This record gives sequence, structure tokens and C-alpha cells, in this order.
Amino acid sequence: MSGAAGSQTSSITTQEPRSYLERGSAHYRQQLISSLSDVSGLAGGAALQRSRALDWKKVLSVATENARAAGVESRFKTLVGSAFDVLWGSDYDLVLLTNFLHHFDRDTCVSLLARSKDALTPTGRCLAVDFVPNQDRVSPPLPAAFSFMMLGSTPEGDAYTAAEFADMGRAAGFPRVTVKPLPPTSQSIIDFQQS
Ligand SMILES: C[S@@+](CC[C@H](N)C(=O)[O-])C[C@H]1O[C@@H](n2cnc3c(N)ncnc32)[C@H](O)[C@@H]1O
Repeated sequence: MSGAAGSQTSSITTQEPRSYLERGSAHYRQQLISSLSDVSGLAGGAALQRSRALDWKKVLSVATENARAAGVESRFKTLVGSAFDVLWGSDYDLVLLTNFLHHFDRDTCVSLLARSKDALTPTGRCLAVDFVPNQDRVSPPLPAAFSFMMLGSTPEGDAYTAAEFADMGRAAGFPRVTVKPLPPTSQSIIDFQQS
């Protein structure tokens, strides 16, 4: 574990969280399904040659159940532990950071994006899903309010604007970053491209 990542994770995300498993509702189960794609895995990826999901052990045990239920278990593997400690592997076509970057400060996000870049093929892409407020940071209401939630529940997390994601991407070696809304949700997809 290194630098900013280490200090971030030691306070909030190095401990295996109990919440996702213990709440047990359909809503959180659904979140676990999508957590398959957290770093590089993908839940329902029938067309995928291989997928890897990186998260804590208990989260991944549910993700594995879901991969089995979707019939893709033979192409699905897990990487157990912190994204800051575990070796991610290489030559991925796609790295997914879904609802993850908002936990961390700018420099830690840059380090995660740099890790993503290192794990990709030269033409691979990194996609993040997150709340992206407008440049004014007070609209639209939900993404703007989400930054308050990160202020109250993480040491340094935030909801980042498109310009801030573009800056992080450039610092991590992604010269082209585009942000598109994902209606009907209040979230956006952030596409980090290497050229
Ligand atoms: C907000 S949830 C997002 C879950 C899912 N990707 C989604 O989009 O609904 C954040 C996820 O990051 C995981 N996580 C938190 N800190 C982590 C770390 N240091 N390394 C790997 N996973 C971590 C949590 O266990 C949780 O599954």
C-alpha cells in the first residue's frame, strides 16, 4: 500500500465492510451484482473471454454466486483484497470503476486511474460510473447533494465535476475523457481513453 492510497484506505476502506452483506435487502444484493464489475469483472458478460472482480472477500462470495447463476462462472475470477494492494493483472480490454472513485481524494483517484491504465491493453478503456455535478457544483440536485454525503462519510471523498475527472485522467495518462449522462439515473459514465 502506498502514499495517498494508503492513508485513505486505512481509515475507511481497508476494513472489510459489513454493511453490504448484513443489510441483505434486494437493493444491496443488486449493488453486489454490479460490484462484479468494480475493477475489471463483469456480471453478465456472455461475450467476455475472461473477467475479474476485485473487492473484499465477502462481497466477492456473493459476486461468485451471481456469476454462477448467470452461467459465466468458468470465465469469472476474483481478486480478493484492497484495490491498492492486490495485483490487478494486465492486458484487459476494459477496466470498470463503478461507484468507486468518489470515496477518495483527487490524488488517490489519479493513482487508481494510473493502475487502470497499467492493467489495460494499449487500446483498452477505463469506464467509471459516478455522480458528476455541473461546474457550478450546486446542480443538478442529486449529484450536488452526493458531495455532501461523501463529505460526511469519507475522509476525503467527493463528487467530481467533468473538468475534475478530465484533469485526473490526464494526470494518469488518459488524454481523452468524456462524460455522458446515464438517464434515467442521476449518474454519468466517464470514459477514460488512451488516445
Ligand atoms: C459504493 S460500492 C459500489 C458497488 C458497485 N460497484 C456498484 O456500483 O453498485 C463500493 C464498493 O467498493 C468496495 N471497496 C471499498 N474499498 C475498497 C478497496 N480498498 N478495494 C477494493 N474494493 C473496495 C466496497 O466493498 C464496495 O463493494
